[in-house]
Amino acid sequence: MQTRIDTRPLEQIDADALVIPVFERPAPEGLAAAGEALAPASARAANEKAGGWIEECLRTGEFSAKALESVTLHRPSGVRARRLVALGLGKPDKCTNADLRKAAGAALRLLKPKGVRSIALLLDPELAAPDLVSAAVEGAFLADFEPDAYKTDPKKNEKAVDEFIVVLAEPSTKADEALRRGQILAESQNFTRALVNEPGNRLTPLVLADRARAMAEETGLSCEVLDREQMKQLGMGSLLGVAQGSANPPALIVLSYKPPRALSNDHLALVGKGVTFDTGGISIKPSEGMEKMKYDMAGGAAVLGAMRAIAQLKPSISVTAFVPAVENMPGSAAQRPGDIVTSMNGKTIEVLNTDAEGRLILIDAITYAIRQGCTHLVDAATLTGAIVVALGNVHVGAFTNDEDFRAKVIAAAKAEGEKMWAMPLDDEYKEQLKSAFADLANIGGRWGGAVTAAKFIEEFVEEKPWVHLDIAGTAWVEEAKPFLSKGPSGVAVRTFVNLALNW
Ligand code: BES
Ligand code: ZN
Ligand code: ZN
Repeated sequence: MQTRIDTRPLEQIDADALVIPVFERPAPEGLAAAGEALAPASARAANEKAGGWIEECLRTGEFSAKALESVTLHRPSGVRARRLVALGLGKPDKCTNADLRKAAGAALRLLKPKGVRSIALLLDPELAAPDLVSAAVEGAFLADFEPDAYKTDPKKNEKAVDEFIVVLAEPSTKADEALRRGQILAESQNFTRALVNEPGNRLTPLVLADRARAMAEETGLSCEVLDREQMKQLGMGSLLGVAQGSANPPALIVLSYKPPRALSNDHLALVGKGVTFDTGGISIKPSEGMEKMKYDMAGGAAVLGAMRAIAQLKPSISVTAFVPAVENMPGSAAQRPGDIVTSMNGKTIEVLNTDAEGRLILIDAITYAIRQGCTHLVDAATLTGAIVVALGNVHVGAFTNDEDFRAKVIAAAKAEGEKMWAMPLDDEYKEQLKSAFADLANIGGRWGGAVTAAKFIEEFVEEKPWVHLDIAGTAWVEEAKPFLSKGPSGVAVRTFVNLALNW
């Protein structure tokens, strides 16, 4: 899909569908005055150009402009567009970037199945702020993604939207930049979603590394992939213990971005869990629902997607991504419950449950990031079922050893419409990680599982400012939404990019 800005008068916009955002407003005195409720001003103009049809729909109650509600007028007279679509935005005081992102997405998912090839969205004048332009473009590109790469139906691509046009009153470089930013962000998030959607047989750790390398070459990032032997030399016993049960060898993927002109000496590490499939290992998972564990590399994929955008949007801070990629399998070479491994930073760990493997691979990647000179750490991981119990599928759980840093990450998330919730990390939780035979156990018992998992990681961050994002509940959209397909969400990509851009 292409996107561009068009600043011609609305009657001259040439598109299969011209979408007109309308705010929900209580109609002023009397039904006849319903038209006065039409806002933004562009909605009023579109209404007048096409004979008062939106006004009529509001008057009859067929359309009330509630969020994501729509009504379509075919072959309107007075405009070049083949359809006019009035699209509800809900109450104006409650309409955020996130709402516009969803509305643009809902418009695309409404029109695409109908064979519409070009969609124009009227953002004028109240909705023309650069952030809103970005949000609208993001919404359209994110909505366009389908997790159907392995469906062979020859007709599946017959219905495609070729062009998403943002209609503005006047040209501006700010709007051009916002459009580009929105497209890069959403395409990068879709890059992540496509990776997450790959099944375990097709996306092994080495394949993930190949995909990362190809992306790095395209975008100008530097890329290094450490193999098993190199990791052995570095003493990454914790990561390698998880990998040893699989015939598919592990990889530690490292992608680096250096700014043209750095504004500080800070060096941000983005660390993402890259378990290409999590069977649980010898502590094997129940078979029901196990197929979803192909998404256990969603943190790693989010980090890679963020780097793809960072390479193009060029923030003024150094950012390096670290993705420990492994497959967690049972087998004759697999690690056993009770095994004791030595991590790269020297601490020993008793592996009481081989299904708590995410933390075991993250900590060696974190130690490596610190040895590489990273000053700030953020990790993303589908780490625990417990975070799904705590926060459901709505919020990412955000854990930290540094409140200010977490506030920064949560602010970045908020700006991008990604919901994150501060979780506790009190020292009392550490008690649960005691091992009779090693420095630490890799699980903390029945209660507070998301916190003890985070507490375990904290033991390895060497006091660096660190935020851990548990995305187990949010990396997968369980049910399709009007603006998004079912499947991988690509959560955390936009937050990471925003964090780097606003450093
Ligand atoms: N990948 C899972 C986390 C997970 C579980 C995500 C369920 C989504 C749904 C992780 O590796 C895991 O298995 N964690 C265990 C930890 C436990 C053994 C302490 C869990 O959460 O059950
Ligand atoms: Zn597991
Ligand atoms: Zn896992």
